[in-house]
Amino acid sequence: MAIVKVINHPLIQHKLAILRNKKTSVKEFRELISEISGLMCYEATRNLPTREVEVQTPVAIAKCRVLAGKKLAIVPILRAGLGMVDAMVDLIPSAKIGHIGLYRDPETHKPVEYYCKLPEDIENRQVFVVDPMLATGGSAVAAIDFLKARGCKHITMMNIIGCPEGVKAVQEAHPDVDIYMAACDEKLNEHAYIIPGLGDAGDRIFGTK
Ligand code: PRP
Ligand code: URA
Repeated sequence: MAIVKVINHPLIQHKLAILRNKKTSVKEFRELISEISGLMCYEATRNLPTREVEVQTPVAIAKCRVLAGKKLAIVPILRAGLGMVDAMVDLIPSAKIGHIGLYRDPETHKPVEYYCKLPEDIENRQVFVVDPMLATGGSAVAAIDFLKARGCKHITMMNIIGCPEGVKAVQEAHPDVDIYMAACDEKLNEHAYIIPGLGDAGDRIFGTK
């Protein structure tokens, strides 16, 4: 059974409150997206397998644990997902990075693909798909479709703000995919924006509006 988890850690919730505020500057918004992503990464990677190794300290041998199993990949959904990558890579420096470019058609709200470049060995990696917003779920489902078509079997979705409609869409299309969010908001409005949400994540990260 896949995990669907809202990470309600006080530090994340505090930063999320500032992130949502329409008065928050582009600079601070970008910093907060990154900080929240780092904190979420800590929880979303909690179940990664480890193996024991022996390490010679200056005084004795310590039994330690290191990451084992599959190598990792981080796949941001462009554009807004880019804002989550650096914090993840800081914590998992050996991860490879793929990019999936999708934008929502303003009329239909359906995702339109414009770019896809993935690590050659993506099918052998545990993949973390990152995107600040999970609204209708169309973009997330399309991104996971691409990854599965390339042979990926272990996929985790990380969104800063989701909503019931988006979670349902991902669960119905990809019941094996874990979803981690910092908040699961109330609903979508008539323009398929998350309510209360934070507005357009891409525009707020890149200052395009
Ligand atoms: C936003 C967001 C997600 C998508 C979520 O991207 O970053 O990718 O919408 O909506 P959905 O769940 O209904 O698909 P957008 O299409 O605005 O593109 P951008 O990141 O380039 O701004
Ligand atoms: N994309 C965003 O950036 N925000 C929303 O609320 C919905 C989709």
